[in-house]
Amino acid sequence: MSREQRSWAEPYKIKVVEPIRMTTRERRNKALEEAHFNSFLLRSEDIYIDLLTDSGTSAMSDYQWAGMMMGDEAYAGSKNFYNLQDKIEKYYGYPYVVPTHQGRGAEHLLAQLLIKPGDVIPGNMYFTTTKVHQELAGGTFVDVIIEQAHDPTSLHPFKGNIDIGKLKDLIYKVGAARIPYVNLQACVNMAGGQPFSLANLKELRQLCGQFGIKIILDATRAMENAWFIKRREPGQSKRSCAEILYEICSLTDGCIMSGKKDLLVNMGGFLALRDEKIYGKACELVVIYEGLHTYGGMSGRDMEAMARGIEEAIQDDHLRARIGQVQYLGQKLLDANIPIVEPIGGHAVYLDANRFLSHIPQNEFPAQALTCALYLDFGIRTMERGLVSAGRNSKTGQHHPSQLELVRLTIPRRVYTQAHMDVVAETTIACHHARKSIAGLRMTYEPDKLRFFQAHFQPIGSWTNSFSSEYPILQDPLLELANTIF
Ligand code: F0G
Repeated sequence: MSREQRSWAEPYKIKVVEPIRMTTRERRNKALEEAHFNSFLLRSEDIYIDLLTDSGTSAMSDYQWAGMMMGDEAYAGSKNFYNLQDKIEKYYGYPYVVPTHQGRGAEHLLAQLLIKPGDVIPGNMYFTTTKVHQELAGGTFVDVIIEQAHDPTSLHPFKGNIDIGKLKDLIYKVGAARIPYVNLQACVNMAGGQPFSLANLKELRQLCGQFGIKIILDATRAMENAWFIKRREPGQSKRSCAEILYEICSLTDGCIMSGKKDLLVNMGGFLALRDEKIYGKACELVVIYEGLHTYGGMSGRDMEAMARGIEEAIQDDHLRARIGQVQYLGQKLLDANIPIVEPIGGHAVYLDANRFLSHIPQNEFPAQALTCALYLDFGIRTMERGLVSAGRNSKTGQHHPSQLELVRLTIPRRVYTQAHMDVVAETTIACHHARKSIAGLRMTYEPDKLRFFQAHFQPIGSWTNSFSSEYPILQDPLLELANTIF
């Protein structure tokens, strides 16, 4: 057996556990009704396996927990800030760092610093909070991701790539002066956790350099993107993810970061920059919205945990196991002919609700309905990433169109085992068998912004009653023999 064919296992062993429990079918029915059929409104104690998000849900290591005890909670100049800054400079290469309470804090600062009313911000597909901050600053997001990213069946290895032709056309159409930066997201979330390639980034750098347009990396899952580059891009397999990450960042002007993903912490983020002047302005803004520029909404201990998280998360062994677990679940579903987004992404497996529930029209929110079915069947919590997440155009009153209608099974880092993945796969397969009994939903309450977080729904008909199973009773193969003896 070659080395490539051998099984791998996680590069850690488990020291502390958190009990979880299966609820009854009655409880799940009631919980879902109380949550208005929105998985964001469920209580965590009513969940068996929580795949809502990989954000802030990671398990920290003993090294990180030890770091929590080393918190220097001084208001100004905490030693943990300087350690964090050092680690960011070492692994990401940016010299200026402003900590924020989480990713959207950095998105807010960035948008306020760089966007003027009337500006246009191209990006490789939208992300919910990113786009809202761009709009609040008076900008308009324009999608310039390659066409294949909108097709869940396309096997393009780098579906996160920017369509350089589309971007060029946009620059000629609106003029470079109205484009403050290109927002380049690593492992594009709404496309299914899809990476961009180094070759594409180099082309982007060249084009942006020509027109004096900045590139801002959304580095939230850049380490996972580096892993895909190592695995898929010709000539990259011998390099470490750390080397690749450093090169990615060297081709950009700064980044926003939600440390709650790649960096294995429960809270925190940062804005990192190369330009000293913009950094100075960011320091002025951060004190208004987040906190002093040496803590920006994070406590000293949290900055220490994140600094240590950077060192652990960039290890090739860690990334192999992390992404390997996502691939394991995705492959099980593919083997069972479940329609998922391909290639399998870095942080989640995305069910294609348009194909899974092809009998439900998109305006009855099939992906949202599928999140409900997965919960009712086995207490699995997932997230809609389709029409509800896309939101509504305030000018036309119509839903923003969304070609993709997905359910995200998001895998927290270092939290669940392969056995949990098996249970998730079985639940998904059970729902697929019973798919004809699933009907749509109607929205009964709709917030103006980021509606998916708090919207309310009602099932069309009473299909939710037909769902639910109980925890299986495992049969001991020796039970029958034992019965004959006693
Ligand atoms: N950028 C990306 C690509 C994200 O996925 C997120 C958050 C953010 C920015 C904002 O960061 O949550 O720390 O404020 N994504 C979470 C998710 C919410 O579930 O995918 P944040």
